[in-house]
Amino acid sequence: MKNILIIGATGQIGSELTMKLRELYGGANVVAGYIPGAEPKGELLESGPAEICDVTDGGQIAAIVKKYNIDTIYNLAALLSVVAEGKPLLAWKIGIGGLLSVLEVARENGCAVFTPSSIGAFGPESPADKTPQDTIQRPRTIYGISKVTTELLSDYYHNKYGVDTRSVRFPGLISYVAPPGGGTTDYAVDIYYSAVRGERFVCPIGAGTLMDMMYMPDALQAAVQLMEADPARLVHRNSFNIASMSFAPETIFACIKKYKPAFEMTFDVDPLKQANADSWPNSIDDTCAREEWGWNPTYDLDSMTVDMLDKLSKKLLG
Ligand code: SER
Repeated sequence: MKNILIIGATGQIGSELTMKLRELYGGANVVAGYIPGAEPKGELLESGPAEICDVTDGGQIAAIVKKYNIDTIYNLAALLSVVAEGKPLLAWKIGIGGLLSVLEVARENGCAVFTPSSIGAFGPESPADKTPQDTIQRPRTIYGISKVTTELLSDYYHNKYGVDTRSVRFPGLISYVAPPGGGTTDYAVDIYYSAVRGERFVCPIGAGTLMDMMYMPDALQAAVQLMEADPARLVHRNSFNIASMSFAPETIFACIKKYKPAFEMTFDVDPLKQANADSWPNSIDDTCAREEWGWNPTYDLDSMTVDMLDKLSKKLLG
């Protein structure tokens, strides 16, 4: 039986991953860690235990780990790329200071650790198309630099101390539940809100800019499946490329327009977001994840669009 702590349980990924893990392992066995100001509400609050858990406070993490006999930590605390660029020291403190607290607690208490990396861990010198699992990583954003460091530190704790660290490089994540808030790929979520509200979408990313994206159910499945994988099959650990779709703004717009014929989009390119996007891969190669732990996503752009429009219509229009 797994006893799980999720740090960042009320965030973009955490709010859905916590519910999925509670369905799989039982509500009482999954602790939702949150920071004051981001308290769990509704289903998230009612379905299992919750504790204040600041990722930079190792003592607080250790106390929760002992209280609940935690064996697995999902460390989801992070600032997304655009916010991080405005607060680089805070991004580092949360991303790397926080990771070190988690890894130390994991080392002392024998916990497995999942910490997401990102397509942002690649940079302008990485091959842009079908970016390989193992290749040059020289990102220029603080977000990317902290993700590369996350990968290296996580592997270090595995190799040196035997801590069971595992991770994926998430693409832009698309969901109708919690908004992303401050990433470069957020446009691919925002565009659905505009479409459902019947508003014109002003796209901050230029036409022709390809980025990897993924529907949240596949991302959650990846996190669970990797943590359940037979360690004997893992050649890599931190972090696996995972992919399901790659598109540019005009392609997602055209897909939505099939179902919302009156939908319109114009462009007003945000230079920071565009620079990030231009330095990230067009598409990544996820062969290693497929071979080493059976990664196999369910959604493509069209099936995601049908589901997003349906679920968002119910959420926003009732
Ligand atoms: N979605 C993230 C961002 O845009 C990338 O991993 O910051």
